[in-house]
Amino acid sequence: MKIFVDTAKIEEIRKAKDWGLIDGVTTNPTLLSQSGKPWKEAALEILAEVPDLPVSLEVIDTTAQGMIKEARELSKLGKNVVIKIPFTTEGLKAVKVLSQEGIKTNVTLVFSSLQALVAGKLGATYVSPFLGRLDDIGHDGILLIEEIMRIYENFGIETEVIAASIRHVDHVRRCALIGVDIATIPFKVIEQMLKHPLTDIGLSKFIDDAKKAGIQIL
Ligand code: E4P
Repeated sequence: MKIFVDTAKIEEIRKAKDWGLIDGVTTNPTLLSQSGKPWKEAALEILAEVPDLPVSLEVIDTTAQGMIKEARELSKLGKNVVIKIPFTTEGLKAVKVLSQEGIKTNVTLVFSSLQALVAGKLGATYVSPFLGRLDDIGHDGILLIEEIMRIYENFGIETEVIAASIRHVDHVRRCALIGVDIATIPFKVIEQMLKHPLTDIGLSKFIDDAKKAGIQIL
């Protein structure tokens, strides 16, 4: 499973990159508004920090023509830009055109398997079902992702599925169990994935016992 970090904060991206952990970055207008920088400055910094990894930047226009124009401009910011397009009828028109132009797209705000089927048929590079937001309203986000994966398998659709809106480590574990292509994970959840109290307790005991045994660093 590929791991994307779901943030626009450069310090978080740098840390996750230093750990050798990330395969991509996803942002959205909310995350960019939390970056503490003007959006374009933040976006350029991210693109330069991970020049070989896909970075999703979202359009804000709501018309197909507007989204296409915005996507073409955003694409000029870096060769690793992926255009995030909301799942609307206008967004779908934009996805079709952009796919034909070879511009990578990530169809976002997906909440049903039929939305994902359509995005896949139109040639989206990625599709982002929001599992946390579905769980919030009493649905099963993981079940949606499983359905999308099955539908893509049925029809040989090559669009990669990004499990988005991940809230906690158990979401990540369940995504890995069902074999989703990618999970885009908030930085704090990535940190939590790396921690286990028994590892810390175990290490501390080994260090104490090494001293007792007189073991020295060679
Ligand atoms: C996806 O790409 C979105 O940026 C993100 O996962 C949304 O998550 P949220 O529901 O926590 O806002």
